[in-house]
Amino acid sequence: MTDSDKRNSLSITDNRTGKSYEIPIEHGTIRSTDLRQIKESDSDFGLLGYDPGYLNTASCKSLITYIDGDKGILRYRGYPIEQLAEKSNFLETAYLLIKGELPDKERLAVWTYNIRHNTMTHANVTKFMEGFRYDAHPMGILVGTVGALSTFYPDAKDISNEESRKLQVRRLIGKIPTMAAMSFRHSLGLPYVHPDIELSYTGNFLSMMFRTMERNYRPNPVLEKALDVLFILHADHEQNCSTNAVRSVGSSMVDPYSAIAAGCAALYGPLHGGANEAVIHMLKEIGSIDRIPEFIKSVKSGEGRLMGFGHRVYKNYDPRAKIIKEIAFQVFEETGKNPLLDIAIELERIALEDEYFVKRKLYPNVDFYSGLIYQAMGFPTDMFPVLFAIGRTPGWLAQWIEHVKDPEQKIARPRQIYLGEDTRDFVPIEKRPKRVIDEQKFGICRL
Ligand code: ACO
Repeated sequence: MTDSDKRNSLSITDNRTGKSYEIPIEHGTIRSTDLRQIKESDSDFGLLGYDPGYLNTASCKSLITYIDGDKGILRYRGYPIEQLAEKSNFLETAYLLIKGELPDKERLAVWTYNIRHNTMTHANVTKFMEGFRYDAHPMGILVGTVGALSTFYPDAKDISNEESRKLQVRRLIGKIPTMAAMSFRHSLGLPYVHPDIELSYTGNFLSMMFRTMERNYRPNPVLEKALDVLFILHADHEQNCSTNAVRSVGSSMVDPYSAIAAGCAALYGPLHGGANEAVIHMLKEIGSIDRIPEFIKSVKSGEGRLMGFGHRVYKNYDPRAKIIKEIAFQVFEETGKNPLLDIAIELERIALEDEYFVKRKLYPNVDFYSGLIYQAMGFPTDMFPVLFAIGRTPGWLAQWIEHVKDPEQKIARPRQIYLGEDTRDFVPIEKRPKRVIDEQKFGICRL
C-alpha cells in the first residue's frame, strides 16, 4: 500500500479478535461490503452497518442534485436553485435534470412539443378513474392510475432500450398533470377537461383543473408563473424517501410506471409529500395567534410535531422555503391574503427563537408556506401532494434512468439484524396454550 493509499484509508482494529484491517476511503466514503472481511470466526457472516432510515448510508453515486444541508445549498446539475427559479421554466428544468445539460432553443422546442403532445390519456384511463369512490383522495387515485399506465404501455418493460425510456419519460411528464387534474375533477363530479395545446405546461394544468364554461380559458399569469416555480422547486431532491422508493422498486427492473407509482405512494405520507397538507390542518387547529405559545408547548412536550419544520438534510434554512415565502406574497397580491398567513409567520418567528427548535436545527422546510399558496390559488388541501408529484416526476425519472444505467447497481435488498426466536418445533393447534381474548380491546370484527 502506497503512502497516498494509506492516507485514503481507514484503519480498524477489531477488539474481539485483535486483528487490524485497512479499508479504502473514496469520496469520503467506505464501502459497507469492505466490512464483511471483519469476522469473529470463519462461520461469522462479517460485520454489517446498522442504519435504520439510512441516516449515514449512500445508496448510489449521482450526478443530478447537490445539497449542502448545513449551508442551505441546493443545485440541479450544478445550477443553483435560486437561478433556476428565477430564470428557467419547469419544462426546461425537467430537460436539465433528465439530460444533464440545459437545452439550446431548438432542443427545448422539440422537448416541449413532445411533452405537450403526450398530455392526452387513453380513453380507458377515464373509465379506470371512474371506478374510484366520489370521495377518494386524489393522491390515492394518482398512485393507482400511474401504476395502471404500465398496463397501457407494455412496451415500457424494455427498460434497457434507450428509445423506449425516452418515450416513457415524455409520456409520464406529459400525462401526470392530466391525471392529477382528472383526480381533482372526479372528486367534484366535474367533467374532465381536455389538454389545451395553446397553453404552457403549467397553464394547461390550471386549465384542466379549473376550466368550466369559458370558451377560451386563460390562467392568471402571476399564478401560472408561481406554480411553475413551485414545480421547479420540487423537481428533485436527491435521495429523499420517494426517490429512494423509485430507485428501490426500479432496481427490480420493473417498468417506470410501476416505479414512479411507488414514488407517488411514498410521497403520500404525512412525513413527506403530505406535510404541506398537514401544515394547513395544523394552522387551522391553532386557529389564532394567541394560541401559538400553547401549541409550541405541546410540540415541545412530544404531543405531535411542528409540521413544515425540520429536515433530514437541511440543518439550516431550506433554500426552497426562502423562495416560496417570496412567491407567497406575489400570489396573495392577486388572490388576497390567506387568513392563515399571519398565524404561519408568527409561528415561524416564535419557533426560530425557541431553544427547542434552535438546538435541534429545525427550520421551515419547503412545505411550510407552499400549502398556503396552493390554498390561495384554489387547490383543496388533498391536492397538495398531487402537485408535489407533478413537480417531482422529472426528478424521479432522472434518478430512475441514472439507476438503470449504473453498472454498479443491484436489486435493492438490505440486510437485517435478526433478534427473533431461535429454532423451535411446530406445536399442533390443540396442544397450544389457550389465550383469553379481550374482544373489546382487540376490536374483533363481526361481519
Ligand atoms: N417538530 C418538533 N420536533 C421535531 C420536528 C418537528 N417538525 N422535527 C424533528 N423534531 C425533533 C425530534 O423530535 C427529535 O428530537 P429529539 O432529538 O429530542 O428526539 C429531533 O428533532 C430530530 O428529529 P428526527 O425525527 O430524528 O429527524 P429526522 O431527520 O428523522 O426527520 C423530518 C426529518 C421527518 C422531516 C422531521 O423533521 C419531521 O417530522 N418534520 C415534520 C414533517 C415535515 O415537515 N415533513 C416535510 C419534510 S420536507 C419534504 O419531505 C418535502
